[in-house]
Amino acid sequence: MKFFLDTADIQEIRKGLEWGMVDGITTNPSLIAKQGKPYLPTVKEIAEMVPGPVSGEVLATEHPEIMEQARRLAGLADNVVVKVPLSPDGLRAVRDLKQEGIPTNVTLCFSAAQALLAAKAGAAFISPFVGRVDDVAGSGMGLIEEVVTLYGNYDFDTEVLVASVRHPLHVVQAALIGAHVATLPFSTLEKLYHHPLTDVGLDRFLSDWAKTGRGFDDE
Ligand code: E4P
Repeated sequence: MKFFLDTADIQEIRKGLEWGMVDGITTNPSLIAKQGKPYLPTVKEIAEMVPGPVSGEVLATEHPEIMEQARRLAGLADNVVVKVPLSPDGLRAVRDLKQEGIPTNVTLCFSAAQALLAAKAGAAFISPFVGRVDDVAGSGMGLIEEVVTLYGNYDFDTEVLVASVRHPLHVVQAALIGAHVATLPFSTLEKLYHHPLTDVGLDRFLSDWAKTGRGFDDE
């Protein structure tokens, strides 16, 4: 399973890369706005730092503007994946961009029907938003199960990118279902490392050895 970081924060990306756990990045307009930096240069900076796919989203809703912005985003670096909203104009652009060799990530997916359309259009990734589905008393993970099943039924190439992840259980459930990718806020990536028994166990190992008064190199 691939882990992407869902962030436009350069420090978070740098740390995630150091930890060796980051296979790619997803951004969106809200995340880039939070950094207070210009749009395209931020996507470019991230794409230059990260060896894997970096999703940069169009800021347009009509087909001609989506195409124009998508080409500019894709021109920033070879690893840019263009994020396109799930709409008739968006999916028409997904099909056209595929013909041009530009990979897309279809965003704001909230139903299996929408995921099916995105795969038929030729998206490289579909992003179902599990946290936002949970927020309205739906089952985000139920949606992932449906999408993984229906893609498997027809051998679609589109990868299921679990988005709007809010906590480690989302990540584990997504992996159990067999989703290809989860995009995590940095705080969720950090939480995946922690277990209280690991902390207690490590303290005990080190304090037991310290009681001997011996060092690591003693003979
Ligand atoms: C997906 O790529 C989006 O950037 C993101 O996961 C949305 O998450 P949120 O619902 O926490 O804003």
